[in-house]
Amino acid sequence: MFKRLVFLGPPGVGKGTQARRLAADFSLAHISTGDILREVIKQNTPLAQRVRSYMESGTLVPDEVVLELLLERMSQPDVKEGYILDGYPRNIKQAYDLEKAGVAVEGVVYFYADEETLIKRISGRRTCRLCSRVYNIYYDPPTVDGRCECGGELFQRSDDTEDVVRARLREYRQKTSPLVQHYKERGVLCEVDASGTPDEVYEKLLRAIEAT
Ligand code: AP5
Repeated sequence: MFKRLVFLGPPGVGKGTQARRLAADFSLAHISTGDILREVIKQNTPLAQRVRSYMESGTLVPDEVVLELLLERMSQPDVKEGYILDGYPRNIKQAYDLEKAGVAVEGVVYFYADEETLIKRISGRRTCRLCSRVYNIYYDPPTVDGRCECGGELFQRSDDTEDVVRARLREYRQKTSPLVQHYKERGVLCEVDASGTPDEVYEKLLRAIEAT
């Protein structure tokens, strides 16, 4: 199985959910640029303010900012055994930036689902403030309302509101979706129908990457 992967797909399709599981099962580093950027905006710095304004409007953070953060993460020792890039690249320029930086991409998994499914998954997402575990009030609810197993408070991401989600979907269609064709032409793309339960999608993911 390839161990240097990119996960591609619209907001809410389940990239993070599948990436966490695959990374744990195969000892891969899960590198989510969304998570990295959410850590950045917790700090009180000019960079944090700049990044926050993009994320809260649902638009892509400038390429050079994300590239620098990504390469810093890629320099850590845990990426040696393999990695899943979850949410990077997000446009054609970023795909070339990755190539130029010499970051190998052996396989690209494109997850797809209809828009109704995406909206329901996004609107139901809740994250733990303490351990970052992701729940879904419709599909994977916590035992105690608003509380994680660890006792932490659950919150809704600030970019999961209706207006921002609409903007994120627009960004995805305009800037990210051309990557599907880009990687198809390079012969590294496999497609996974992300409808169904997380277990069902995981089975499809394993079959797809084994066949690549
Ligand atoms: P990011 O955090 O990457 O958000 P995203 O791509 O919009 O993806 P999501 O996190 O919304 O969804 P997901 O596909 O991971 O779904 P999840 O597994 O959580 O990026 C956020 C922002 O950061 C961007 O808008 C941009 O501003 C910036 N950014 C990030 N990367 C960038 C880059 N490279 N360049 C520039 N800017 C960048 O699942 C969603 C919910 O559904 C969860 O509740 C989950 O429990 C549930 N769920 C998952 N799978 C299933 C299933 N099969 N059945 C039922 N429920 C499910």
